[in-house]
Amino acid sequence: MARFRLKTEDLQKDEAGTPSEHLVTLLDPAGPASEAYRSLRTNLLYAAMDAPPTVILITSPGSADGKSTTCANIAMVLAQAGKETLVIDGDLREPSLHKIFGVPNVSGLVNVLSGEYGLSEVCAEPFPGLKMIPTGPIPPYQAELLSSDRFAELLDQARRLFDYVLIDSPPTALVSDPMIIAAQADAVLLVLNSEKTGKGSLRMAMRDLEAVGANVLGTVMNKAPKAKPGRYGYSH
Ligand SMILES: Nc1ncnc2c1ncn2[C@@H]1O[C@H](COP(=O)(O)OP(=O)(O)OP(=O)(O)O)[C@@H](O)[C@H]1O
Ligand SMILES: [Mg+2]
Repeated sequence: MARFRLKTEDLQKDEAGTPSEHLVTLLDPAGPASEAYRSLRTNLLYAAMDAPPTVILITSPGSADGKSTTCANIAMVLAQAGKETLVIDGDLREPSLHKIFGVPNVSGLVNVLSGEYGLSEVCAEPFPGLKMIPTGPIPPYQAELLSSDRFAELLDQARRLFDYVLIDSPPTALVSDPMIIAAQADAVLLVLNSEKTGKGSLRMAMRDLEAVGANVLGTVMNKAPKAKPGRYGYSH
């Protein structure tokens, strides 16, 4: 299984907390954070060359591990590399991708799952080559909605139209939604928070994902501490 690393100092720009500042790959494409996301993209592209995944779920064991930030920035660097990319906010509990991308959350995934709209009607295009589906209005029975045939149909359609479809989600430890999505996705990227994800919660997340046959492509070690400079003045 592949391991990717994102350093804490890579996202210093997020400290002000303004939502769009999470999109460091747009705001500071030449900076170290964007470089880290591009190297994650490269790892992703080469991690499964035999059977390249199209639909990739981004999840993590706990809250605030960096799922949405990672999801948004990987989507951004894939689009910047000329890949037709769709990012779906599958976090029907705490939606945040619409804030990160600065699009209104009026209609979205929920409206497609309820049969009200089709994919193209709820797609925003925050940046050229990058399409985005926010959650739309949140209903009470989220897990049931994600289990519907319409979700499978939406993913089939998205697979035909896009090179990559990234889906953000809630934490695996809190709800079953990520497992429901993982069962339909081609691959899963598991974000780990180096400041707080323990071995137990990692093991539990892996167990829950594997129980539904998920293909866990790799882990992203997020908020990793800054590497100490090497003996010869550079870091490895
Ligand atoms: N690599 C990073 N370095 C520093 N801070 C980060 C990094 N990734 C995310 N963060 C910060 O951590 C906080 C949580 O990030 P984010 O909202 O992406 O997490 P999440 O896992 O989606 O949370 P939730 O479980 O609420 O959906 C945000 O303030 C974000 O700016
Ligand atoms: Mg989130």
